[in-house]
Amino acid sequence: MVEHAKLRCIDPDCGAECGIERTTPTCPTCAGLMDVVYDWARAHASMGFSGDPMIFQDRNRGFFGAADATGAERLDASGVWRFRELLPFYGSIDNVVSVGEGRTILQPAPVIAKQLGYHASKGGGIYLQYEGMNPSGSFKDNGMTGAFTHAKMIGATRAVCASTGNTSASLAMFAAISGVEAYVLIGEGKIAFGKLAQALEYGATTLQVKGDFDACLGHVREIGEQRPELGIYLMNSVNPFRLEGQKAIMFRVLEALGWEVPDWIVVPGGNLGNCSAFAKAFMELKELSMIDRIPRLAVINAQGARTLDKVYNELGARWNGGRYDKGIVRGEYERMDAAGERASTIASAIEINRPVNLPKALRALDVMDGVVRCVDDKTIMEYKALVGRHGFGCEPASGASVAGAHMLREEGVIGAGERVVCILTGHVLKDPDVVVQYHSGIDTKAGQELAPRGEPTGQKANRPIPVADDIDAIIAALGAG
Ligand code: F0G
Repeated sequence: MVEHAKLRCIDPDCGAECGIERTTPTCPTCAGLMDVVYDWARAHASMGFSGDPMIFQDRNRGFFGAADATGAERLDASGVWRFRELLPFYGSIDNVVSVGEGRTILQPAPVIAKQLGYHASKGGGIYLQYEGMNPSGSFKDNGMTGAFTHAKMIGATRAVCASTGNTSASLAMFAAISGVEAYVLIGEGKIAFGKLAQALEYGATTLQVKGDFDACLGHVREIGEQRPELGIYLMNSVNPFRLEGQKAIMFRVLEALGWEVPDWIVVPGGNLGNCSAFAKAFMELKELSMIDRIPRLAVINAQGARTLDKVYNELGARWNGGRYDKGIVRGEYERMDAAGERASTIASAIEINRPVNLPKALRALDVMDGVVRCVDDKTIMEYKALVGRHGFGCEPASGASVAGAHMLREEGVIGAGERVVCILTGHVLKDPDVVVQYHSGIDTKAGQELAPRGEPTGQKANRPIPVADDIDAIIAALGAG
């Protein structure tokens, strides 16, 4: 199919390899996670790529002419595919399924940096990688273009995912534009309305399962991995082609910094696909001598969904060259089940018990000298509001990364002058209920006041002011009377 790309099991004791025409995402021998791996010399020789990143920038000419662009120009309008030499599995340009995803920018945030205890000088401080600006409003579009491109290469016509919301929104969008049948499984009552609205609007067959995300993921994995006769392609981040696309988030960060490597990448952790993809991007760029060092990684869990934090910081699980202690992870899952402990957080996007990419995340923490932390819901909402107040609205899960950047600064793990990139994974409009609730003190779904009037519900609460339908009252309320 594509001679310079293949799939390889990440477990060194297995190491099974197969061609990328494989229709199921996991290892044919041990059912573990796989990587897409490349013969870079061969790929780049056939593409005429010298390793000079300036060609990516030259392609970034904006939207002019994108509507009627054909061939390579159409790919240049994508913030994923303009880096196509760094994910060369797609074979031919005609295979690429793109909606102009990934046209997102790194935003310097000096005011936020100051509030978090950083010196925003000499390139240091906080930078926000605003992935909420993707076509479906979250970072998922970066990965979905990769998976849909692979699906097209193998002729898949039906696609499925389990989702806390954003994956389903993105899948539904890509399916609708490419004529693929979309099926999404969501936990009943577990999904923010902005995301549910998208899946329904784009026409995905939406199953509201009486269970949580983990239950849904179990079901779709069975459909996608063990029931090939159904012919339904699995789009969750266990799919390595998703992660190939998500590498581009880091390519754009580097490009924005003139290919200077930042000191830290801070990212919320849910199913752990993003952090896994980021580490793969940096490993490959280093191998290609396109960067000289690898940044450090901070993965931030929600306190109510802290599996990685627990197994990494309390139980001591480490990558260990691929021979990580599977017993630690299994034991923790069994303990959680026996105790009836289920993930619960206001950041519904990352309300996950058993992150499917946990082994790849351990590898990421190893490669990027990483740390893991967790932050509680109240803290998540305060940092989300801080981001919003400075004009970069995000959803609760994204607020976790900024909260984590503050926590690590206070601990002294991150220095005041370091250059820190926080990933804002989803747009503020994804979950309007929690935002209005935070600011108004009213439970939008039940229509009830959470706090008595006059009592702020959060430190940055911006309460709407009730006022009579009267010009004098309005002017008085404006404080201008
Ligand atoms: N932030 C947002 C807004 C998300 O939607 C997700 C994951 C994450 C962070 C976590 O990223 O899984 O790569 O660690 N959402 C998935 C979904 C699970 O179904 O939409 P991760």
